[in-house]
Parts: sequence; C-alpha cells; structure tokens
Amino acid sequence: MNPIRIGILLSGTGRTLLNLLEQAKGGRLPAEIACVISDREGVKGLEHATAAELPSFVEPDSERTFSILRDHRVDLVCLAGYLRLLTIPEDFTGRVLNIHPALLPKFGGQGMYGNNVHKAVLESGDAESGCTVHYCNGEYDEGPILLRRRVPVESGDTVDTLAQRVFEAECEAYPEAIRNWIGTSI
Ligand code: GRF
Repeated sequence: MNPIRIGILLSGTGRTLLNLLEQAKGGRLPAEIACVISDREGVKGLEHATAAELPSFVEPDSERTFSILRDHRVDLVCLAGYLRLLTIPEDFTGRVLNIHPALLPKFGGQGMYGNNVHKAVLESGDAESGCTVHYCNGEYDEGPILLRRRVPVESGDTVDTLAQRVFEAECEAYPEAIRNWIGTSI
C-alpha cells in the first residue's frame, strides 16, 4: 500500500509535526509529509519543516492554503497547533483532522488552545483530561470525533505538568487516529 500524503498546518512550535515525522520514519504511520503550511511567519514549526527538507509555505488565506494542498496531492490534512479558522472546500470534506488537548466537547471553542485549555481544566476540578482527534467542519473544535485518549489530573498538577501528560497522550493518539482514518477511507 502506498503511504498517504499528509499536509500539515501549524501556527507554532511544530511538536506535533515532529511527532508525526518520527512516527512515519519509524514505520508506525504509513504516511509521508507532503508539505507544511503555517499561517504566520517566524514560527519554530517552519524551522523544523526546513530542517526535514519538507516543502513549506506561509499562507494565512484559507482558499490559497487548500490550493497549495491540492498542488501537493495531499490525501489528508492534519492540523498541528493551527490557530486559524478554515473554510473547508467540498473536495476536502472528511479529509481534515485536528487534535485538541482536552476531552471535547468540553474545553473547546475559540480561545481554547494551549495553556488556556489546561488552566480551564484545572480550574474546573475535573479528575481527568486528555486529547481528542476530530474531523474539522469549519468551526472551532467541532466536527465528529475519531478518537479520545484520557489522562488523569493529579493532585498538585500545574498547567505545565498537565500539559506534558496530555501531550504524551497526543503523541500516541494522533497517529492512531490517522491509522484509523486510513483504514476507513481505502
Ligand atoms: C497540541 O497540544 C495540540 O493539541 C494543539 O496544538 C498543540 C501542538 O502545537 N492543537 P505545537 O506543535 O506545540 O505548536
């Protein structure tokens, strides 16, 4: 089976890009990264893309972003810390995934990203958090859920310790969800 071609959209540090690259290299993900698009200049994620010799672009506009993805014959788009709202064209319906660092539908929506999410979880007193991989439907953190992975909130947790635990879960959950996606779409 040919590896699928993934397009990565990011706005920040690109840790998720690095994880997916590593998973693909290690043979745990039958995929190759076809291109990386950031909606802004100067972010670490673009440096990682360059270091990995991946075609990379800065493009804030949704329509032009999908043109680049088409040009690179992308099968699946993976948001990886992407902070801009997309308008998903018809030909990409069911082909755009996001990972969110909480158990959706709780703690999602506009402004709920990064440490804001973990802070809200800690303030809520919830005993668990986790991550969610879901299809994107053009609204913040909405769309059918593919997979969730739970982690405990431990007494004494800070935003940083919780964020670390959730990110470790993400590193397993995203590749697993992508493998599931591949399984259902071939
Ligand atoms: C992850 O926590 C993910 O849940 C969210 O963005 C974070 C990754 O961003 N969507 P980055 O790779 O650290 O920039």
